Amino acid sequence: MAPYIGSATSRVDGRAKVTGEARYAGEFNAPDLCYGFVIESTIAKGRIARIDADEALRVEGVIKVLTPENRPRTAEPDKAWKDDVAPEHGSPFRPLYDESIKFSGQPIVLLVAEEWEIARYAASLIRIEYEEQAFVTDLYEERHRAFAVARPDKALGDAGRAYMAAEVRHEAEYFIPTEHHNPMELFASTAVWEGAGKLTVYDKTQGVQNVQRYLCSVFNKKPEEIRVMSQYVGGAFGSGLRPQYQVVLATLGALALQRSVRLVLTRRQMYGLGHRPATIERVALGSRADGTLDSVTHEAIAVTSQFEEFFRNDTGWAALLYKSANSQYVHRLARLDVPSSCDMRAPGAATGVYALESAMDELAVALKLDPIELRLRCYSDRDQNEDVPYTSKQLRECYRQGAETFGWAKRNPEPRSMRDGSELVGWGMATGVWEALQVSAAARIVLTANGHAEVSCAASDIGTGTYTILAQVAADALGLPIENISVRLGDSTLPQAPVEGGSWMAASASHAVVAVADEVRNELLRVAKTIKDSPLSETSLENTKLVGGRIASKHVPNIAVSISDVMRHGAVDRIEKESTNIFPEDNAHARNTHSAVFAEVKVDEQLGVVRVTRVVNAVAAGRILNPKTAQSQIMGGVVWGIGMALHEKTLFDHRFGRVMNANIAEYHVPVNADVHDIEVIFVDEPDEIINPMGVKGLGEIGIVGVAAAIANAVYHATGTRVRDLPITLDKLG
Ligand code: MOS
Repeated sequence: MAPYIGSATSRVDGRAKVTGEARYAGEFNAPDLCYGFVIESTIAKGRIARIDADEALRVEGVIKVLTPENRPRTAEPDKAWKDDVAPEHGSPFRPLYDESIKFSGQPIVLLVAEEWEIARYAASLIRIEYEEQAFVTDLYEERHRAFAVARPDKALGDAGRAYMAAEVRHEAEYFIPTEHHNPMELFASTAVWEGAGKLTVYDKTQGVQNVQRYLCSVFNKKPEEIRVMSQYVGGAFGSGLRPQYQVVLATLGALALQRSVRLVLTRRQMYGLGHRPATIERVALGSRADGTLDSVTHEAIAVTSQFEEFFRNDTGWAALLYKSANSQYVHRLARLDVPSSCDMRAPGAATGVYALESAMDELAVALKLDPIELRLRCYSDRDQNEDVPYTSKQLRECYRQGAETFGWAKRNPEPRSMRDGSELVGWGMATGVWEALQVSAAARIVLTANGHAEVSCAASDIGTGTYTILAQVAADALGLPIENISVRLGDSTLPQAPVEGGSWMAASASHAVVAVADEVRNELLRVAKTIKDSPLSETSLENTKLVGGRIASKHVPNIAVSISDVMRHGAVDRIEKESTNIFPEDNAHARNTHSAVFAEVKVDEQLGVVRVTRVVNAVAAGRILNPKTAQSQIMGGVVWGIGMALHEKTLFDHRFGRVMNANIAEYHVPVNADVHDIEVIFVDEPDEIINPMGVKGLGEIGIVGVAAAIANAVYHATGTRVRDLPITLDKLG
């Protein structure tokens, strides 16, 4: 039987998803279900002076109007509201906590009714009076008050002096606007009242156990009183890493009414959750005439809220890619009257590497050097932040294979030199880099005598293919056909798992499955040895494998006992094991994924319309567990990169501190007509250091570098360098 790991396996949950059998958080029912509707603040800062709900309460079917004043008590100590998602922690916004208004779109009332339509109508009858205060939502107004955050990346040498002494210099400022996630599935929670203070909460989240801990902490509940389920997620991209406010409100409503409550946010309300923060990035590069770097400075100013300092590393990526004796990295935050930002696919890198890789392209132009050649001359085999080598880094191969597939050698380096009829043609490239993280996780296997196994773990599958890769890994580890494996995920009562994010789930959960499969094999061997004249009596665990429904010697043919014989002999009908895999600490290596992105654009010379006609993304991400789902991940990342480069921007009306395009008609994302050829290459990258299977994960690397490659291609096509995203046609005039 060919191994499943590494084979292009179709999604095991594909049928459930396309037939509607897969249910999402807002689709669960209960006999006593009622419906919540959220009212949001229309001002950006101030206090609620008065809430008049009299008229709403007279509407037949309205059950309750919950406000900061009359809501049931929650835990008051600050630490009860902490979110303990690894790797960073924070204090998410607390809905209905008090009368203060911190951003426009803030939930301030939860209305609960017998029907959703009644709730929505009655919400329109509630009158709210505010005491308004001055606010600011424009990053450019606040940039000079931005403060530096503590960062791990060390400065090397004296970047300022080396820059002044450099033979060739490039310095520029780049801008990435606020962006919103816009997953297809709306944020939703159904809190089912189970009686006696117990709840089952179906939530749209990337981490059921994190939400469960959070709810228990906020509502003073024991772990066994709240169970959180999220078996399917219709996209989240980081917006579901932290508990969002609707799960707090649905739970609050259910506890207040002792009834089941469903709360589904509207598309507009989703713009009151997290976002990718608007960021100003300044990059200064100084090099010698031969294209070796002497100085790298990368400074970012990103947005945070008034109540939290949430940030990711925008700077410091250069130290993973390019050798430079001098470097300086500074990350600043500017406080605005908006919700806290949150993770959005490759947070920090999607933005920071866009700026860095645009700047590298500009330096290549200044040096009259091919952009790949420049990157090869600076290529670093060490992470210069930590001064350690990589577990593996096949980035050179990414450049080579990507360039070959794309046909880069045929590029005329001169801007405006390539044409296709009335369109200018541009070819650009950029490097991508992301982290290859791994976290401890647990898994359970229940193997039955008929040769079926159930694998379970609290992990969510946010659409990345976790169900499928865990089925593949379990099938290989247990020596069973994949049809005999069922995978259960997204239930807080299952074995411990981290939130699904950071591209760490594939490595984390697959090694948990291997660890527990080893225990199952150990148990099978133990029982097999008790069989009289057992063929395995002399075989050690290391020398056995599970294959074809049997436990067998790895080396000697025909020494084997079938699983069903073992169980019959042991008088059991099932073997159940649970195990936690812990990755040994290794500070001697850097763990990263890499990519080389190549983009072709065609630009209508008269109108300035840009089309991305071709993208080749060559990715080095260790062992690819499933080339099919992996390719889908990278393609999705590339599509998002097209959106980042050409379409996406959350528009604020700074007079009101309010998002103007809070819907997917006016917030532009790429549609099918914007997406042409995307070719994904997985460069062979054996890695015997990072973990036993050599898995790195690739949920995020696919977007990194894409916007820069497109921006660089637009420059090559038009001779115009646009440094603020998105590149809309007005900027090319
Ligand atoms: Mo991802 S931004 O870690 O869901």
